[in-house]
Amino acid sequence: ADPDPLQDFCVADLNATVSLNGFPCKPVAEVTSDDFFFDGLSKEGNTDNPFGFAVAQGNVLSFPGLNTLGISMNRVDLAPRGINAPHSHPRATESIVVIKGKVLVGFVSTSNVYFYKVLTVGQMFVIPRGLIHFQYNVGHSKAILLTAFNSQLPGAVIVSRTLFASNPPIPNQILTKTFRVDDDVINSIKSKFA
Ligand code: GLV
Ligand code: MN
Repeated sequence: ADPDPLQDFCVADLNATVSLNGFPCKPVAEVTSDDFFFDGLSKEGNTDNPFGFAVAQGNVLSFPGLNTLGISMNRVDLAPRGINAPHSHPRATESIVVIKGKVLVGFVSTSNVYFYKVLTVGQMFVIPRGLIHFQYNVGHSKAILLTAFNSQLPGAVIVSRTLFASNPPIPNQILTKTFRVDDDVINSIKSKFA
């Protein structure tokens, strides 16, 4: 989804003061093998939270060597019954491979059709760009997924956080009307994301 590069590489200078669609390049003479290496997906994430979920992101912000290359990857760790809650990526299609465990992955199309599969180790599923999707560990042990994106910075819109924990908050009258519930329901959900 990202634009094509105009040179072999353009390791991001994340501290540059100019801003553009991506990042300016650090000087070629200063680029080393380390710029093309990223160790951030090697460690197990801490899933000790209400979602039983952890994500490590290998995007241009954590791995500047990806700048202009149009790809990135995440590692997702899920405890048993852990969830990567419904979210979408505005700038990328996502492919998912299960590395460990048994995971239900699903997305909903713009026609409101739910597509899903239970994946075991080595199996792959694809989430079309922009569609809301989730992953849920249906196995009895920890699960690990690797996800790959055709963007250096796919972005993530997390539905629950977007609607119930924006800054400043979306007014309750919008949310009560949208979900056809009373204020107490909205307040209860908002309090859990505060
Ligand atoms: C999984 O859905 C991810 O965005 O890494
Ligand atoms: Mn995703």
